[in-house]
Amino acid sequence: MKNPAPEITEKELNELIQSAKDVLQANWSGSFTRPSKNQYPHQWSWDSVFIAFGYTHYDKDRAEQELRHLFEGQWKNGMIPQIIFDQEHQSEKYFPGPDFWQSETSPNAPDHIKTSGICQPPIHATGVRHLIEYAPDRERAVAFASEIFPRLKAWHQYLDRERDPNNEGLVYIRHPWESGQDNSPIWDGILNRIEIEPSYIPAYSRKDINNVEPDERPSKPEYDTYVYLVNFFRERKYDEAKIRNDDCPFLVQDVLFNTLLCKANQDLAEIAEIIGENPEPFKTRADQIADKMNDKLWLDREQMYVDYDLKASKQIQARVLSGFLPIYASIPDQNRKQQIFEYLNTHCFCQMTDSCFPAPSYDRSGDDYSARTYWRGPVWINMNWLLYEGLKQYGFDDYVKQVRNSIIQLPFLSGFREYFDTNSGEGYGIENFSWTAALLLDILYREESTAIQ
Ligand code: GLC
Repeated sequence: MKNPAPEITEKELNELIQSAKDVLQANWSGSFTRPSKNQYPHQWSWDSVFIAFGYTHYDKDRAEQELRHLFEGQWKNGMIPQIIFDQEHQSEKYFPGPDFWQSETSPNAPDHIKTSGICQPPIHATGVRHLIEYAPDRERAVAFASEIFPRLKAWHQYLDRERDPNNEGLVYIRHPWESGQDNSPIWDGILNRIEIEPSYIPAYSRKDINNVEPDERPSKPEYDTYVYLVNFFRERKYDEAKIRNDDCPFLVQDVLFNTLLCKANQDLAEIAEIIGENPEPFKTRADQIADKMNDKLWLDREQMYVDYDLKASKQIQARVLSGFLPIYASIPDQNRKQQIFEYLNTHCFCQMTDSCFPAPSYDRSGDDYSARTYWRGPVWINMNWLLYEGLKQYGFDDYVKQVRNSIIQLPFLSGFREYFDTNSGEGYGIENFSWTAALLLDILYREESTAIQ
């Protein structure tokens, strides 16, 4: 196996652990952890859960505080919003801020806290399950789970009711930001199809390219569409039925979002069992999602799962890493797992015999692959974490080891960057990015506790 990274000594590893904790401490706002101080100065939904994975092992108060603060932003209809805005607004640092979203125009928005009007992948029950499993004080973690359980249930009910209105077994997202993979090639076809009159794009000024090179970020036309969609929701006061019935141009059944909901339902069933609630509805829902994904989102020719475009009634054929991630929720059968691994372990996604860091977010042989542009090629640590958790259940040991090593070696070589170059290991995007630090801590702490046993 070729490995482009040097060995790390024990001393260096200990220093890396300390630096990871320092990153989280520096990004701590006093009541939640910012993904990054300047680029993302508010609380982001799925970031906070990844961050809590790390805190669980060495600061359970923080892990609980992180999740509690997130749930304070929960909408009355159950939605956990993508962003909970810092009370200080930080509007000079981030667009679109609360004044643009105007989520208070929805009767469902929370009364005392400003949020965005969309959501992000539902890994929250998984975060609470993780706390029960790994927090040193299990009794306390179980008490926390009992406190949070009604909120988790309301969140899942919102997704089932509002995002799967025909009870098909798959939920939809209505904005690329809801996928967590903002400018993934998955959305290209839809974004090109949406015809926007320039007068329908409200005037706005981007802040993200003040901190990061523009070619590492989404393009102007992509941003125009993001803003257009926000405006579309805002005009409908975030009313889900109106958005759906008024021909929302972006409605997608996304592989990663549904995978994480399936896993979250499996975890919520386990939580229910532990705290003496009925686990059955969550088990049934997890099975329903898995069956429907196998039925509707598998693409045999590509040996992977793909998204489904509800507006065009067709699968979206984009060869992205998230197409393999249903292994994280044990969705594929043995045969499909093998096929997934065969494709993953090719030059396209960094083969074991190549000198590179797995796993690029997009097939490297694609014409529009870009080594440094956000979700269009670079390696992301959260995706590696999901891949690692998924693959290790099936014993693809050598590849698993390489994915694990990437999670440690990339920050070692290049710092806690937002994303990395699969070939050189160079870091891109913002520096001192919280989930890069937190997920490295999670992996290392769990290894240490297994080694001790
Ligand atoms: C970007 C990422 C998204 C993340 C957010 C905050 O929008 O695409 O996944 O949650 O930044 O880190």
